[in-house]
Amino acid sequence: MRLVFLGPPGVGKGTQAAGLSSDLSIPHISTGALLREALDKGTPTGLEAKSFMEAGELVPDTVVLRLVQERISRPDSSAGWLLDGYPRNLVQAAALCELLTEMQQSLDRVVYFECSEAEVLRRLGGRRACRNCGETFHIEFAPATGACSAGSGEACDLYQRSDDSEQAILNRLEVYRRETDPLVDHYREQSALVVVDGSASIEAVSVSLRKALGQTP
Ligand code: AP5
Ligand code: MG
Repeated sequence: MRLVFLGPPGVGKGTQAAGLSSDLSIPHISTGALLREALDKGTPTGLEAKSFMEAGELVPDTVVLRLVQERISRPDSSAGWLLDGYPRNLVQAAALCELLTEMQQSLDRVVYFECSEAEVLRRLGGRRACRNCGETFHIEFAPATGACSAGSGEACDLYQRSDDSEQAILNRLEVYRRETDPLVDHYREQSALVVVDGSASIEAVSVSLRKALGQTP
């Protein structure tokens, strides 16, 4: 299955993608995560992306396309993939379409997670991630309990993403409204869109997602 997850920052794309990609045995490809990894390693791509990410702006289309192209061309992507956070504007959607045509592949579904801005603000404000296992938590809705899954036997080493500052969050929402939201109509017109209520609990969203994709629980 080849899927795209679409929705505002903080709606839960990464949270849902982790479970679904594991169930379907397809790679979870988050452009945000690929860019953060490049940033941590100090690669030229990471250095190029840094100022855009910290400000909550989109990284240039050519940089992100290069990452996506490289990742979906790997052998583990041959049976499918789940793209989380790409495409993010109409230029990227056209680039993905062209790339898939070249690769003789097609997109099965675009899942749009719908949610109010008030709710995504609550989710982003309380988000924490673990430096060791990479898992995402929420101080209220999904607290980190027990030992870190990286196997140290210790608790998770939590941190807040640098683009989860109030200023960067407000800008990400503005960029989303302007650049990414038009993709909802774009994919609706192509009859590829399925809409999932992203405002419910993590478990309820997971059930709706599988139902929308015709997956049996
Ligand atoms: P990216 O990493 O993609 O960030 P984003 O789109 O802003 O989305 P988030 O990762 O913030 O939210 P999410 O929907 O994954 O929510 P999560 O599951 O974590 O991109 C970061 C930056 O990289 C961009 O700003 C840009 O600079 C650059 N970039 C990336 N892709 C790009 C592209 N294609 N082009 C150009 N630039 C690009 O959940 C959030 C919180 O809520 C967590 O704490 C979670 O525990 C909690 N939660 C999740 N679901 C629920 C629920 N149902 N109920 C209660 N809490 C929940
Ligand atoms: Mg994410």
